[in-house]
Amino acid sequence: MKKIGILFGRENSFPQAFVDRVNEKAPSGIQAEFVQIGLVEQSVPTDYAVIIDRISQDVPFYRAYLKNAALGGTAVVNNPFWWSADEKFFNNALAVQLGVPVPKTLLLPSKNRPDDTSEQSFRNLNWTDWDAAFEKLGWPVFMKPHSGGGWKNVYKLDNPEQFFSAYNETGQLVMLLQEAVEFTDYFRCYCIGGKDVRIMPYEPRNEFHQRYATEMKTTGAAGKKLLATMKDYVLKLNQGLGYDFNTVEFAVRDGIPLAIDFGNPAPDADIHSVGQENFEWVVEAAANMAIKRAQAQKPGKDNLTWGTFVHPTAAAAPAKKPAAPKKVAATKKES
Ligand SMILES: Nc1ncnc2c1ncn2[C@@H]1O[C@H](COP(=O)(O)OP(=O)(O)O)[C@@H](O)[C@H]1O
Ligand SMILES: [Mg+2]
Repeated sequence: MKKIGILFGRENSFPQAFVDRVNEKAPSGIQAEFVQIGLVEQSVPTDYAVIIDRISQDVPFYRAYLKNAALGGTAVVNNPFWWSADEKFFNNALAVQLGVPVPKTLLLPSKNRPDDTSEQSFRNLNWTDWDAAFEKLGWPVFMKPHSGGGWKNVYKLDNPEQFFSAYNETGQLVMLLQEAVEFTDYFRCYCIGGKDVRIMPYEPRNEFHQRYATEMKTTGAAGKKLLATMKDYVLKLNQGLGYDFNTVEFAVRDGIPLAIDFGNPAPDADIHSVGQENFEWVVEAAANMAIKRAQAQKPGKDNLTWGTFVHPTAAAAPAKKPAAPKKVAATKKES
């Protein structure tokens, strides 16, 4: 018996639907349930072939449990090691290298020094040339944590006065400063298993529960081209980062989709926000991905997905076509 577990927090609709879907369609010998955690001992494997992690970003104990589980052969979705290392500024830098357009972005030293550091800890740091920064980005700009999520501490700023007053509030947070994209269309795209893509029109200026209640504005041939371009970018980003379950946001300016936020390894999948059809898609795609991963899982081996940037063999592979994410232990391709 190979078990698939889902680890989650306060969300309600997705976990049960996921478990039910796997149990409806998995071949015999594969079964899904809510993860059960008892005593966690070093190097003792779990009895899960696959764990879908929806919450370890908020629960450090779970993150440590998942790394230990991965060492014992569990295929943890998403890779807890990469997720721990990942942040928005690096993602943007990687996007540039992958040929995916992103807004011009700078990294700012935190306003306040980290605890237990002094001026001496910063002898390598030159004064920031704010005028040069503002000139590079123009106005307005977005300022947000370089490693953040959930719209926390996200500022839109129109001039230096607003900037400095917001920056003064950011304490020890490391922020990134980014050109604001005045967009005509905005999308949020699921990517599952490094291959299944669902592009959803999204209106971030609506109230939270109304954000998916919108339509694509670009139509005709331009619309088709835009959808194809976004699909290509979504695959490139997810294969580069090595995420099995993620969303990518794009803001479209002059027909060009710019990737805004693409490290969301526990993306919102609640039926009440994404709507019935998107929910059905994500439940089905996630169930299929989890079943494949359970089938490919080799006990005691590394069954994680590694991005083409992080994994040396994957990075060295010829870049003919954007390949499916490489699995270290899988003998057979998963997609
Ligand atoms: N450079 C930008 N241009 C235009 N809108 C942006 C930009 N950066 C962020 N936003 C807006 O702010 C929202 C939150 O920022 P985001 O990067 O998605 O942070 P989080 O990870 O907290 O969701 C986005 O959904 C988008 O509407
Ligand atoms: Mg976002």
